[in-house]
Amino acid sequence: MSGQGSGKVALVTGAGSGIGRATSRLFAQAGYAVVLVDFNAESARETEAMIREAGGEATPAACDVADAAQVEAAVASAVSTYGRLDAAFNAAGTDGEPGKLTAECSVDNWNRIMAINLTGLWHCMRFEIAAMLKGGGGAIVNCSSTAGLRGAAYCAAYTASKHGVTGLTKASALEYGKQGIRINAVCPGMIDTPMTQAEGMKAAIEQLVAGSPLGRIGQPEEIGQAVLWLCGEGASYVHGQAIGVDGAWTAQ
Ligand SMILES: NC(=O)c1ccc[n+]([C@@H]2O[C@H](COP(=O)([O-])OP(=O)(O)OC[C@H]3O[C@@H](n4cnc5c(N)ncnc54)[C@H](O)[C@@H]3O)[C@@H](O)[C@H]2O)c1
Repeated sequence: MSGQGSGKVALVTGAGSGIGRATSRLFAQAGYAVVLVDFNAESARETEAMIREAGGEATPAACDVADAAQVEAAVASAVSTYGRLDAAFNAAGTDGEPGKLTAECSVDNWNRIMAINLTGLWHCMRFEIAAMLKGGGGAIVNCSSTAGLRGAAYCAAYTASKHGVTGLTKASALEYGKQGIRINAVCPGMIDTPMTQAEGMKAAIEQLVAGSPLGRIGQPEEIGQAVLWLCGEGASYVHGQAIGVDGAWTAQ
């Protein structure tokens, strides 16, 4: 395949579902070889099959992003398989058990959300940055949320983790720009994925969509297109930003 990613390598976490899967497919369509990181090995293999069927190049990597050693191995396997790492989209995430008041969030729920959404994303960045520095640069996009820009009631741990992702994105951008690594975050609004399709979420999402400025839910590909742009030459001066892709949700 030819395009902006011709000869380049992208790594996507959470590649087995939703936003990560859609973005992986778009990377592959644009010519990137894609390393598909997910702790659900079967779903990562399904994404690989979709990409290969469409003529693209991809390799699954079973990995729990909360485990630093597994992340190190996944990034190492990307470099040993394809020789370099040019782009990374860190989308693996969980909303844990939403719907609880802040004081009622369990310690287990808090710890799990932080371990995956924030510490896990930081593990990914650590090893991606090291690989990109060896290759002379690259672009990283972290998946935050509108809950990384403003408060979201009944999701305190998730909101705190996504604000953490936004802060981590900005701090690291200040450090690595001169070494050729651009780092940004996308902040999706409500997107139609298994996360929002979960039984307990449906009614709340329908209500939020009805009151949203575009009057519809977003599609995972609409996040993927923003990620691809952020990783490409067209965004060469975009760095350290947390960009809402939310149908004006945060403009309200
Ligand atoms: N769907 C939305 O409305 C929405 C809105 C804002 C932000 N987000 C963020 O977008 C990202 C993707 O969400 P989605 O809606 O596609 O959800 P999803 O549940 O469809 O996909 C998440 C993927 O991440 C993987 N994953 C979870 N924990 C992991 C771990 N520890 N290690 C490796 N893989 C792991 C899952 O197996 C799954 O394949 C998340 O970070 C989420 O917080 C989603």
